[in-house]
Amino acid sequence: MAPILVRMSLLPILEYPDPRLRTVAREIDPAELDDAFRAHVDDMFETMYAAPGIGLAASQIDDHRRFMVIDVSEAHDQRRVFVNPRILSREGEQVCQEGCLSVPSIQADVTRAEKIVVTALDAHGAPFELAAEGLLAVCIQHEMDHLLGKLFIDYLSPLKRDMIKRKLSKQRRSAA
Ligand code: NI
Repeated sequence: MAPILVRMSLLPILEYPDPRLRTVAREIDPAELDDAFRAHVDDMFETMYAAPGIGLAASQIDDHRRFMVIDVSEAHDQRRVFVNPRILSREGEQVCQEGCLSVPSIQADVTRAEKIVVTALDAHGAPFELAAEGLLAVCIQHEMDHLLGKLFIDYLSPLKRDMIKRKLSKQRRSAA
């Protein structure tokens, strides 16, 4: 058997405080959900797994269309694509320590809804509804914030955010 050739590429991830992370994503016309879009989604999953991460919003790779990819499984076998996601209901509260591929090596507690019901289109344009709780619910809410130009550190005090900004620029200087 011939080896299967898979063409994939890792995409560069924007990092805080890059102003492009503040862009509000635009809704996607279902007509845009073609093979090229799905190949792009595959690249996003590979980029996310390689990072490694459990969610990646298009905004983070400088694509300002309203979609995101998520896989919270350890085996990388629960790929979920959300196009034009909308939260239909939220219930309860949970505090989770979050991180973000655009804010490397920073973690902070954020309070979010414990349970949500979300509706979206999949990568083929089929609508679906999903009830999520726990980590998956946190991840969906975190990625949907990205699509509005919002980062998890926006929930922290300005003082804490300044400390993070200084820490990241120091990290970048020592990596250069
Ligand atoms: Ni993030």
